[in-house]
Amino acid sequence: MKFFIDTANLDEIKSAAAMGVLDGVTTNPSLAAREKRPYRELLKEICEIVPGPVSAEVFATDHDGMLKEAEELAAIADNIVVKIPTILEGLKAIRSLADKGISTNATLVFSPAQALLVARAGAAFVSPFVGRLDDISSDGMDLIGRILTIYRNYDFETEVLVASSRHPMHLVESAMMGADIITMPYDVITKLIKHPLTDIGLAKFLADAEKVPKG
Ligand code: E4P
Repeated sequence: MKFFIDTANLDEIKSAAAMGVLDGVTTNPSLAAREKRPYRELLKEICEIVPGPVSAEVFATDHDGMLKEAEELAAIADNIVVKIPTILEGLKAIRSLADKGISTNATLVFSPAQALLVARAGAAFVSPFVGRLDDISSDGMDLIGRILTIYRNYDFETEVLVASSRHPMHLVESAMMGADIITMPYDVITKLIKHPLTDIGLAKFLADAEKVPKG
């Protein structure tokens, strides 16, 4: 299973990359707005830090506008994946971009039907937003299970990228289901390694190490 970080913050990306388990980056307009820097300049720097897929979202909502922006974004670096909103115009854009050999990530996916459509259109990645479903008392992980079943039934190559994750259990459940990728905010990534019994155990070992005769 691959790990992506969901941020446009260079310090967070560098720190996660230094952990040695980072495969890619997802960004979106909201994350980019927090950085108060030109988006494309930021994307170029991100692509220099992380060699894996870096999702860059279009701001346009019409087919032609999305295509134009997608081509500009894809020209920033070889590892750019263009994030396209899962609306009718987006579906058409995903197909057109697949025909041009530009890799896409279908974003804002909330239903199995949307996931099936974007796979048919040739999206390289599908991003179901689990946390936002949980936020409205729906079951985000249930959506992941349904999409995985559908994709396996028909051998779709589109990778399931679990998005809008909020806590380590989203990662554990995604891994148990066999999702291809999860994108996590920096604070979730840093929580993964932590366990109170590890800290208590290490403190005891270090205390006992002091009692071991030197020599
Ligand atoms: C995914 O690619 C999105 O950028 C992201 O996961 C959205 O997460 P949020 O629901 O926490 O904003």
